[in-house]
Amino acid sequence: LNNGLAVTPQMGWNTWNTFGCNINQTTILSAARTIKESGLSKSGYEYVIIDDCWSVKSGRDKSGNLVADPARFPNGIKWLADQVHGLGLKIGIYSSAGTATCAGYPASLGREQQDANLWASWGIDYLKYDNCNDGGQGDQQGNINRYTAMRNALAKTGRPILYSMCNWGVADVWNWAAPIGNSWRMSGDIGPNFNTPFDGCPTTGATGYGCSVINILNKAAGIASKGSPGGWNDLDMMVVGFSNLTPDEQRTHFTLWAAIKSPLIMGHDVTKQTATTLGILTNKNIIDLSQGAWSIATRTYLKDNIQVWQQRNTKSTDGIVIIINLGASDQPVAISFAEIFFDDKERQSATYTVTELWTNVVTKSVSGQIVATVKTHGVWVGRLSPSAATKRSNFRKID
Ligand code: DGJ
Repeated sequence: LNNGLAVTPQMGWNTWNTFGCNINQTTILSAARTIKESGLSKSGYEYVIIDDCWSVKSGRDKSGNLVADPARFPNGIKWLADQVHGLGLKIGIYSSAGTATCAGYPASLGREQQDANLWASWGIDYLKYDNCNDGGQGDQQGNINRYTAMRNALAKTGRPILYSMCNWGVADVWNWAAPIGNSWRMSGDIGPNFNTPFDGCPTTGATGYGCSVINILNKAAGIASKGSPGGWNDLDMMVVGFSNLTPDEQRTHFTLWAAIKSPLIMGHDVTKQTATTLGILTNKNIIDLSQGAWSIATRTYLKDNIQVWQQRNTKSTDGIVIIINLGASDQPVAISFAEIFFDDKERQSATYTVTELWTNVVTKSVSGQIVATVKTHGVWVGRLSPSAATKRSNFRKID
């Protein structure tokens, strides 16, 4: 969506993964303060997003306006927005393109302009717009209509409001959403699982609820290229910081969400995060894969438990090679450049200085292949800079 927002993927925090409906102004303000004080905001995390369950459930006021639940938000949302803005952050809110939200609260179908105006008057900067209770308008034209109506309403307020389409369950949304939203969900809800033993999105069981990180990643592999500045595939809020994932699993998850240029929306309890989690989420090298001059990662190699993803720098001949190991043990890999750069003879024959981006280990004069040991469920990320002696001019350019 060409509204000047999400030129790079949006970064922030959302209430849902940790708090569900159990939200109030204190939980949100504590999170916002922590985002500021821990350094997360300096790393780019900007939007503090209130998800489902913020309003009075029984309905609207006499003028038809949504009302913030006075028990949860005694000072109102405008007050909260002012507090969040006072911290130098931005604030997001939630509704559904339907007759009710997923949790059964009033939603915005047919009330788009009234609701958008209300949010703008409160100082809202971001809308997450869900897909529950679509009022019988769930076919493709209905989807386009429902989501376009809110795009137009937000535009008419005159306030810049980032428009995050949460239209899970729509098969081909990535083919039509780019002119409508700043991002669009492309999967079911994520759960705190790295990789379920089967390819699905379980709602029960020992591994928890929702789609696994790898389930969503594999789905994203087919559509990664559909994102571009102003409109991104949303791989869902991150589960970095959830104890079901090992630190290596969290690094793999964060690396790919960054490299595929998904919005980077945290979902853990930031007020209780460990130093390891904070270190992962604020890693400059990895955030640069998302916010810097890199193409969207594409998967170029898939064999047994190993996947290789690549990004190319849009201003230089540097490239990123990401190797992940989904196997149950650490694995030495040696993958030839012919396999990794199968479409690019010049890159195959070049010599590189390789910097591993999680460890900053530099290896000079690398040619022919990448040799690395990738930990179980872990990731190796190399930045490949062609040596001066290498002829650079014929490297394939980014489309
Ligand atoms: C479904 C969405 O996909 C979730 O992210 C969350 O917003 C819930 N609805 C809220 O009910």
